[in-house]
Amino acid sequence: MLGGVDSALLTPPAGRPATVDGPIPAVTATETVLVLDFGSQTSQLIARRVREAHVYCELVPGTAAVAEIRRRHPAGIILSGGPASVYDPEAPRPDPEIYGLGIPILGICYGMQLLAHDLGGSVEPSRRREYGPATVTIDEPGGLFDGLPPRLPVWMSHGDVIRRLPPGFHAVAHSQESPVAAIRDEAGRIGIQFHPEVVHTPSGAEILRNFLYRVCGCRGLWEAESFIERAIAEVRERVGAERVICALSGGVDSAVTATLVHRAVGDQLTCIFVDNGLLRRGEGDRVLDVLTRTMRMDIRRVDAQDHFLTRLDGVADPEEKRRIIGREFIEVFEDAATQLGTVPFLAQGTLYPDVIESTAWDTSHAHTIKTHHNVGGLPERMRFDLVEPLRYLFKDEVRQVGRGLGLPDDVVRRQPFPGPGLAIRIIGPVTRERLETVRAADWVVIDEMKRSGLYHQVWQSFAILTPISSVGVMGDGRTYANVVAVRIVESQDGMTADWARVPSDVLADISRRIVGEVPGVNRVVYDISSKPPSTIEWE
Ligand code: XMP
Repeated sequence: MLGGVDSALLTPPAGRPATVDGPIPAVTATETVLVLDFGSQTSQLIARRVREAHVYCELVPGTAAVAEIRRRHPAGIILSGGPASVYDPEAPRPDPEIYGLGIPILGICYGMQLLAHDLGGSVEPSRRREYGPATVTIDEPGGLFDGLPPRLPVWMSHGDVIRRLPPGFHAVAHSQESPVAAIRDEAGRIGIQFHPEVVHTPSGAEILRNFLYRVCGCRGLWEAESFIERAIAEVRERVGAERVICALSGGVDSAVTATLVHRAVGDQLTCIFVDNGLLRRGEGDRVLDVLTRTMRMDIRRVDAQDHFLTRLDGVADPEEKRRIIGREFIEVFEDAATQLGTVPFLAQGTLYPDVIESTAWDTSHAHTIKTHHNVGGLPERMRFDLVEPLRYLFKDEVRQVGRGLGLPDDVVRRQPFPGPGLAIRIIGPVTRERLETVRAADWVVIDEMKRSGLYHQVWQSFAILTPISSVGVMGDGRTYANVVAVRIVESQDGMTADWARVPSDVLADISRRIVGEVPGVNRVVYDISSKPPSTIEWE
């Protein structure tokens, strides 16, 4: 599988020697934990949990060669769960040499079965699949279970069980369905049948911490803030005296990227902000204001509203809208960039989940649900060297970095906003009038969420302009006007989401204000769908 892996993913970020002034904290090189990914839905979550425990963690394909693993000097290895069965000849498995590296290993679910199978035990299909909440009884305290009570609520999801333990291993916990719920040997190789990374295992964070600190001997050197100095040094080293261009979107990722690069190379950075006319009220303006006034960045604002709206005229298909917006963005950006003369570097706010998604071992099987438009789609002729200082960070870490760089809270904590903007929140063709309507309704939603103190407690809150008109009555007259939908969701990362149980008083205020303040709207509905099966955006 290594053939498909982005080589950058295999390069530890701290591996490069520093050539510039300033302190470069020892962050990761001596303390990296690797998650070998066997395709579990929660592999990424394991990496995040490890980072939350202040240990740097990366995800690599489960089948990565031992040489690649050794090169990163991991303090520990975690084998993730996965959908396969270890006795299936096609099942993905690690390079067998990892077991002999003398590095502590934690196998989770499928990962534990791999340990058992590969080291001489046996695994079989279970008569009953164990799925959901379960209770595990600890038979041997200490180690992974240090400081924890003898009975733990956990989350199970497996259809295979260990029938025979490998030589040198013994069981240290059991559950009602699994006589072997956790195993270990004297060489620091441990397996657990349940998932410590999910919230349904309340002691999961403690169990992972025990693995990191007690078994692997980690010291907890990873802090998003300590990343800043190192990232600045790396950008300086990479860019030298050359110029850098950065596309600002009004969102957190590009604002933090630009600020970091600006700290590193100052006026060598020029930012371009393309106003596509599809932004929310005030979106972009506040970020630009902070970056221009406080940070004193060189920002070129390109007013391309007419350009975008003309191209979108009459287009109703969501994917077509996305394609047009992506294409036009490139055209406008290219035009603005050309006017700057020769600029060899492009700074981009690529995050670690994007890197993982484009390199995961099973990406080839994934379906395109929506074409996400990213600056990454620049044409071949625009040959930039990429500067991606955030490519090893998760979203919450980016926010911490932003705060560490002095960006104000309202910039750093703003909710995500899709690249195609309000165009995908107007169902059907985009017109100036409909943009005005959705923008005004959206403003009310955000305003009420902030007023009620809920804005930061949810992942996103916004309005959608539906293509439906309905009958209403206002004053003495009958109306026939637009229906606006309100979508407020809770989510950890946008991959899954649930509709937010917002107090009905807040919903009532939102509805009353939208109908009262937004011309052409006489009805408001609340979207009560989770993702999956729905998506967060309507288009
Ligand atoms: P969905 O609708 O796929 O959205 O559940 C998941 C998250 O991604 C955002 N989103 C986008 N972001 N370009 C973006 O930059 C896009 O085309 C796009 N579509 C959806 C969405 O707002 C949510 O946070």
